[in-house]
Amino acid sequence: MAITDRPIIIVGCGPGSPEYLTDAARHAVEHAGLLIGADRLLDLFPDAKAERIAVGADISAVLHTMEIRLGKTPMVVLVTGDPGMHSLARPVLRHFGRALCRIIPGVSSVQAAFAAAGVDWMNARILSAHKTVPDIDPRELAPVDKIAVLAGSPAALRWIAELAERLAPRWIFVCEELTLPGETVTKVSAEMLARMEASPRTVVLLLRPGVWDV
Ligand SMILES: C[S@@+](CC[C@H](N)C(=O)[O-])C[C@H]1O[C@@H](n2cnc3c(N)ncnc32)[C@H](O)[C@@H]1O
Repeated sequence: MAITDRPIIIVGCGPGSPEYLTDAARHAVEHAGLLIGADRLLDLFPDAKAERIAVGADISAVLHTMEIRLGKTPMVVLVTGDPGMHSLARPVLRHFGRALCRIIPGVSSVQAAFAAAGVDWMNARILSAHKTVPDIDPRELAPVDKIAVLAGSPAALRWIAELAERLAPRWIFVCEELTLPGETVTKVSAEMLARMEASPRTVVLLLRPGVWDV
């Protein structure tokens, strides 16, 4: 199966370091006529010959530009981590349909966070507080041993701190700038988390203490 056989290829670029880009991602980008993505992702491919469109907050404008170019040039949409986790893949798939899109998976920041903590992510519950905090009843999370939250804003950290207090005892790992030169993984208390300033690229893990004992 050719990975560049559809007009739109959605490429997971991993958590940020070029070392975490797959060969499949690089291959797709080599064959692109148009590269679409955040500046930071476009910068991962300095040698790509393709035309570049930087994605900002206006997703409708991006979809409109893609519509005009559809079928005229191979398009590659770059997303952080894996396309299946809170990414531009969803609006692109919804707008153009699956038949026109191929998805190339990437290493998610959530996988990188569990790897950094040395804990497997079987049966983990993954939540996004990336833009807005989740509307979820903490009682639903009480039986879950491993929770990962896409965080990054002070509001997200405060929400996770409150959640951790409700679910106590939990070990809290703040995983910032994963795979990047500034990577840090810090074990904190809920009180510390509520007052913390973290990188916009942060995943917080809430782990029941027993899951550590493998
Ligand atoms: C729009 S979501 C994209 C998630 C992405 N699709 C994935 O699979 O990792 C952005 C969130 O991903 C997380 N993130 C992305 N890169 C990261 C990194 N290098 N270190 C820690 N968290 C990261 C942060 O929680 C950030 O708020």
